[in-house]
Amino acid sequence: MKLLLATANKGKIAELQTLCASEEIEVVSINDQNIPNLDVEETGETFAENAELKARAFARATGLPVLADDSGLEVDAIGGKPGVKSARWVSGTDNDRNKALLEKLAHETNRRATFKTVVCYLENPNAEPLFFEGTISGTIATTLSGSEGFGYDPLFIPEGHNKTFAELGVEVKNTLSHRARAFKKAVEYLHSSAAK
Ligand code: IMP
Repeated sequence: MKLLLATANKGKIAELQTLCASEEIEVVSINDQNIPNLDVEETGETFAENAELKARAFARATGLPVLADDSGLEVDAIGGKPGVKSARWVSGTDNDRNKALLEKLAHETNRRATFKTVVCYLENPNAEPLFFEGTISGTIATTLSGSEGFGYDPLFIPEGHNKTFAELGVEVKNTLSHRARAFKKAVEYLHSSAAK
């Protein structure tokens, strides 16, 4: 089957392609010809709502089965923020947001946080949405470390490790990340539904 991943992010596309390699699923994306690059406003209040908004828009525009994801970082000491606003709660760059988070947690001993991804699958534009969630718990470091990845990777130390995602590198991150876990569940579903 052909499956559209509603993103232009090359890291996400490569990750899903690897998971689908043995599944006879051809992953296409916004970077492919004939797929429109829709700018879908993320107006939802939850990861699931935003993932569905994106999936629905692309399913309507292409008629293809679509996967769309929405992710963010939930920090315990600030009531689960920045959450769905992870990309935009402070204007500027990833580095600006990392610094702002360090400031917010400057006097906090509870540094627990969770990365969360919700993937929405739509088999066709009118289908009921199916959701798959992936999480990874960890802590927020007191300084920025590492140069790989993006977003909050230089601050996030996944549980069971003592280095940030940005130090561990993309290969290690892809074996345990929230997104990898959510994508894996979605691909397992597609595999089992194809077998029926
Ligand atoms: P998106 O929904 O995958 O685009 O993620 C929204 C925002 O959450 C990103 O712009 C980052 O700020 C943050 N984020 C999501 N996943 C990650 C990750 O794996 N590492 C670091 N930051 C992330």
